[in-house]
Amino acid sequence: MAIALQTSLRFHHNSAFFPKSICLFQNSHLRPSSRFSSVRNCPIIRASSAVAVESELGTEAQDTSDVDLFACPICYEPLIRKGPSGFNLPAIYRSGFKCRKCNKTYSSKNIYLDLTITSGTKEYSEFIPAGTELFRSPFVSFVYERGWRQNFNRSGFPGPDEEFNMAQEYFKSAEGGVLVDISCGSGLFSRKFAKSGAYSRVVALDFSENMLRQCYDFIKDDVTILGSNLALVRADVSRLPFASGSVDAVHAGAALHCWPSPSNAVAEINRILRSGGVFVGSTFLRVSSSTPALLRPFRQRITRDYNYLTEEEIEDLCRSCGLVNYTRTIQQSFIMFSAQKP
Ligand SMILES: C[S@@+](CC[C@H](N)C(=O)[O-])C[C@H]1O[C@@H](n2cnc3c(N)ncnc32)[C@H](O)[C@@H]1O
Repeated sequence: MAIALQTSLRFHHNSAFFPKSICLFQNSHLRPSSRFSSVRNCPIIRASSAVAVESELGTEAQDTSDVDLFACPICYEPLIRKGPSGFNLPAIYRSGFKCRKCNKTYSSKNIYLDLTITSGTKEYSEFIPAGTELFRSPFVSFVYERGWRQNFNRSGFPGPDEEFNMAQEYFKSAEGGVLVDISCGSGLFSRKFAKSGAYSRVVALDFSENMLRQCYDFIKDDVTILGSNLALVRADVSRLPFASGSVDAVHAGAALHCWPSPSNAVAEINRILRSGGVFVGSTFLRVSSSTPALLRPFRQRITRDYNYLTEEEIEDLCRSCGLVNYTRTIQQSFIMFSAQKP
């Protein structure tokens, strides 16, 4: 099938397809020069601006055209992918994606695949709630794993290693399947999931362009993760770019309170999970045993930029979105919960 992809990625590589390390920023204004100057003899991936031309990908010897894991965020039809096969950063970066129904194309921007509905818009902009907008800032994205996240411990978060181990326990029945780390931030847990080797594919997904750039910054020198089955995807949790029933495990660490509509998000998570698939989330509870009784009625008003829920509300939400087998662990304001698609 001839597919006129609207992608204009021009690839030049002077060594094996699977690089020791990869110069994704060779032509980019995002290139952090000092850190990248030491990377030599790596394949150069030049991404020219998004110009609509018949894809040059067709000339690549190993190119394939296939139905992909990713789906169109507009109609949920699985996207047709054209480019090198393989589920890893270099292969996805070099691929173009197209929805047969909507005729819309999607491609990678610098280092992440942009699967938001608004990808490609030039004039349109919309109001973005504070819990989402804050994390799009380059500054917040930079400091997130460099101090910001460590503060969560004071509210009872056990810390990334322990949280990861807890999540892995909940995900036992999903091992070997597709895991999506929704609102991955700078990829704190996505990297651990990818390194664990426990999943056939790991998708690090966030709405923040700068968080995804930070995520790439953390993995770019780690050959084991660069070559692993990991994809970086920009998407909105309320419009997940996957077909219904196509995902085995969804992780969302410290995220639910940031989502504009937790109910839309959990309904979407239920939609993409296969039967028996597992959702594991963590968040800050609105009130904990240590919240002074006097303050409890005011907690929601004080923190109205975020959707802090009570333990009962989280369970109720999971149930009303059709999830079953709810369990949770609580420590001060920290809650990690899991629920399953029947
Ligand atoms: C507090 S951070 C959590 C990062 C990481 N998962 C962790 O455990 O540390 C919350 C993340 O939610 C993301 N987020 C907020 N609104 C979102 C939305 N509508 N869709 C997808 N991600 C969103 C933010 O960009 C941010 O990276």
